[in-house]
Amino acid sequence: MAATSVVVLDRGNNTTCTINLHGATVVSWRVNNQEQLFVSKQAVFDGKKPIRGGIPFVFPQFGPWTFGPQHGFARIVRWSLEKAPERLASGDVEAIFSIMDNDFTRSMWNYPFRLTYRLILREKELHFNIAVYNPSKDLTFSFNMLLHTYFKVPDVRRCQITGLHGCTFIDKTRENTVYQEGRDVVTIGEWTDRIYQNTPQEHIITNVVSGRKMRIQKYNFPDTVIWNPWIDHAKDMGDFGDDEYPNMVCVEAGHVSSPVILLPGTAFEASQILQVM
Ligand code: BG6
Repeated sequence: MAATSVVVLDRGNNTTCTINLHGATVVSWRVNNQEQLFVSKQAVFDGKKPIRGGIPFVFPQFGPWTFGPQHGFARIVRWSLEKAPERLASGDVEAIFSIMDNDFTRSMWNYPFRLTYRLILREKELHFNIAVYNPSKDLTFSFNMLLHTYFKVPDVRRCQITGLHGCTFIDKTRENTVYQEGRDVVTIGEWTDRIYQNTPQEHIITNVVSGRKMRIQKYNFPDTVIWNPWIDHAKDMGDFGDDEYPNMVCVEAGHVSSPVILLPGTAFEASQILQVM
């Protein structure tokens, strides 16, 4: 069997979304043939390493983890295709992916769980609906979750990100010092790694591909992580080109600065909509 295999949602008009079952990583989203996501030229598709770019799925841990790999196991396991791509009456195309606990996940995180990930491709939008279910009768568990979206941009220095004014953020480039954002729009001109907390439901990124704007809407994801490795940290990553950092920005919707606590027999739901404006 191939190390990785992909599922394609095709909306027509050269509008497609490609999901690699390795991590259910969205590796391409084309709108009228224009790619919206950044994937490194040096990304590795060996069915083991996380894929460098697209939209890796971070769960059940964000960041370094004592019991397993950084950013959890969801981005490095093979997901099941629960429902193959199907055209809805609206013309939109939907597919559903899932994972549940197995010996590998139990070796790091000893809980039963079921995670479903539903993607719907619309003309200019990509919808993500996520549900985590705790089937246990008596065990409560807690987790982080985040969609680690790498947007493709012509020059990150010209992007502005709205919706962060007044939010507190943890600055991972300054020993996790907490600051408050004073700028109306956030721009990036250096190594940036910040967890903005209690952010509003909507962000807009300007000057993405074709000079357009990208709208991000999120529900039940209180945090927004902004990341760009810049030149020095790009060099530290074997699966990221030294000169690629101007062409990407990660704006990541998640539940990471506090954990989700999931009681037995209950479910957590969250969603995101990306829209080319
Ligand atoms: C970001 C984190 O979300 O992901 C960064 O805030 C991290 O600290 C980055 O460097 C990339 O992580 P990884 O594991 O994919 O190299």
